[in-house]
Amino acid sequence: MANKLKYFVGNWKMFGNQDSISILQRINKFILKKRKIKKESRIVFCVPYTLISNFAHSFKNKFIKIGAQNCHYEETFAPYTGSVNASMIKQCGANYVILGHSDNRMEGETNFIIRNKIDSAIKQKLNVIFCVGETKKEKINKKTFYVLRKQIKQSLSRKFDCSKIIIAYEPVWSIGSGKMPKTYDLIKIVKFIKSEYIKIYKNKNFPRILYGGSVNPKNINIFSPIREIDGFLIGGASQRSKKFIDIINNYYK
Ligand code: PGA
Repeated sequence: MANKLKYFVGNWKMFGNQDSISILQRINKFILKKRKIKKESRIVFCVPYTLISNFAHSFKNKFIKIGAQNCHYEETFAPYTGSVNASMIKQCGANYVILGHSDNRMEGETNFIIRNKIDSAIKQKLNVIFCVGETKKEKINKKTFYVLRKQIKQSLSRKFDCSKIIIAYEPVWSIGSGKMPKTYDLIKIVKFIKSEYIKIYKNKNFPRILYGGSVNPKNINIFSPIREIDGFLIGGASQRSKKFIDIINNYYK
């Protein structure tokens, strides 16, 4: 059975400064007025490293949770210029971290690197939003299931605490393109991801699976009847409070 709780996760990418906290404040105010949404959803914003500490402090006892968009796999301080590890983002107040996003895979991040990142993030008790998805070329070559299986098998381990893992299915060809998978394909893929995951964990209650790629207020209602999907990873449309609020409102309409 599908989990009832729905996740709306904003991925700000390289967007935002300290003033952008007003976006989250408006969204938080909206949620407080909506009892049903408050009860049935989780809202997370994964912001640039530079904003985590301030935002997490401001939203400490509020509904919205704060996350990071990546971290280094090394668990201790180490000589990696420009990098930040899981314990550093945790100490800043992050509760979540996106790992394996295609933006980072494109820069050379492998399934094995992602596996080490997931391991170090879970050791810090961070909730991991683990991204998987096929490229346009892989889709055309009918490699979607092969690619997803490999990404899941090589990056997840039975020894990870599975209650900390959320999988985000993000077809790379859909990110920022306005293109969406067909409902039939999406359901089939989400079921496939769940079955691959269950093979590792032998646990029928998990995983939670999000969809990500061009989600906006106009197309969100396509997803409302799809019980297999536990929420959304939202890029561009999470950078405006009105769009993000409209997504949530339209989903529950
Ligand atoms: P998009 O991005 O919603 O702008 O397509 C999604 C993502 O990259 O997580």
